[in-house]
Amino acid sequence: MLSPSSSILLPLLSVTVAIVRSAPTNNYINGQARPYQINVDPKFIEQTRQKVSDFRTSIELEGPAWADGPPLADITEFGTYWTETYNWTAVQDKMNSEFSQFITTLPSPGEKYNLPVDMYFRHERSSKADAIPLLMLHGWPSTSLEFEKVIPELVNPTDDSPAFHVVAPDYPGFGFSPAAKTAGLGAEEHSVLFATLMEQLGYDKYAVYSTDAGFFIAQDMVVRYEKKIINHISDFYIVMPNNTDTARYSSNQTTQEETAYLNSLNAFLTDHTGYSAIHSTFPLSIAYALNDSPLGFLAWMYQGYFTVNDNAYKHTSEEIITQALLLYIPGVYGNIRAYKEMYGLELFAAKKKSSVPTSALQYGGTDGYPALANWNYVPRDWVERNANVTYFARHERGGHFPAVTQPELVIQDIKASFKQLGY
Ligand SMILES: *[C@@H]1O[C@H](CO)[C@@H](O)[C@H](O)[C@H]1NC(C)=O
Ligand SMILES: *[C@@H]1O[C@H](CO)[C@@H](O)[C@H](O)[C@H]1NC(C)=O
Ligand SMILES: *[C@@H]1O[C@H](CO)[C@@H](O)[C@H](O)[C@H]1NC(C)=O
Ligand SMILES: *[C@@H]1O[C@H](CO)[C@@H](O)[C@H](O)[C@H]1NC(C)=O
Repeated sequence: MLSPSSSILLPLLSVTVAIVRSAPTNNYINGQARPYQINVDPKFIEQTRQKVSDFRTSIELEGPAWADGPPLADITEFGTYWTETYNWTAVQDKMNSEFSQFITTLPSPGEKYNLPVDMYFRHERSSKADAIPLLMLHGWPSTSLEFEKVIPELVNPTDDSPAFHVVAPDYPGFGFSPAAKTAGLGAEEHSVLFATLMEQLGYDKYAVYSTDAGFFIAQDMVVRYEKKIINHISDFYIVMPNNTDTARYSSNQTTQEETAYLNSLNAFLTDHTGYSAIHSTFPLSIAYALNDSPLGFLAWMYQGYFTVNDNAYKHTSEEIITQALLLYIPGVYGNIRAYKEMYGLELFAAKKKSSVPTSALQYGGTDGYPALANWNYVPRDWVERNANVTYFARHERGGHFPAVTQPELVIQDIKASFKQLGY
């Protein structure tokens, strides 16, 4: 029997002497942020590797690649790399030496989740005194690592653009944040938690960058903390059609742009959301299987990834395995279950129109499935229905993980978004 996931992360007594830049000094008092170094039990990493090498393969039918799931050849290649070459220690060492990492304890975010919450986050402080605090919110299948490539240039820009103090948390159950202990940690609770985190770090006003599930959280934040948020930038500003749109669409009265977007949105919602239906109904049922097969979990995750990714970008095996591991290490139940708490079509819209300046960044190139080509190309006037749009950009490439596949474009857009506001 494997030990429960809580014991996988070894305590590290020497944490406080680690490289901590501009960290709060009063580390252990009142649940304040304390420096954190990743230290996964090597026995667990080895057991995981062993499970990968014991992977029971599958037959594959003749037919178009990806029609039923990720191609066997891809999964076999990941498995071989994982068992023969992948070196978690090196990955962990790199994160520990390059990232400024913390764990903090946040008070209960409200009645629906009546417990304190421990949370891991990166806090990368700029050396510039006037740097703008920027909270970066990831999605699934992902963690704060998604922003790895864009953070350095945001923190220490090589031009005269504004600098940022970046705060990038892992949600509970993702990466190094322990999973929720009871139900009730929805998008609104995450919104309260992140506002509390920013407050705890001494940031009264700040900007938010969101993607995927982070967008649902941000849609609550821009209303609940309207006065605190100086800019919301999202690469996932999806807008659902209202009844008038749907009627116009069925009578062929939508514009070409609207039609293309709705065709893709429909294709996504009808053919590509099986995983989220399972995550949001019986996550524990499938978690037993996925926890028992790290390579099986990678395949499950990789399907969703491929669906919305810009696949012109060639991931290394190490990138995909690390991404899978960061969701596997805490136990997949804690993160796939997030769909049960914070996925729903109603979450795409803010509860009311917010005055927070908003940037909609649209990255295309989701070429895994041609039917989804336009799923991120929401018409600008649809975004304006619900948000104060101050910057809008549409690119042909980048897909759903632009910070990974097109980091320069994301950096350029973030800079342009702030420039537009006079920073
Ligand atoms: C894995 O990486 C660590 C840290 O870089 C290194 O000390 C170790 O030798 C590597 N292991 C293998 C098998 O290469
Ligand atoms: C849908 O949105 C459009 C544009 O804002 C608006 O004119 C229309 O009244 C809305 N329809 C419904 C049913 O809310
Ligand atoms: C829908 O409208 C477009 C543009 O007006 C037209 O070219 C197309 O034939 C119409 N399609 C149908 C199915 O009516
Ligand atoms: C939108 O944001 C800009 C920039 O902060 C602000 O000047 C403007 O008043 C806002 N507009 C609305 C309608 O809230």
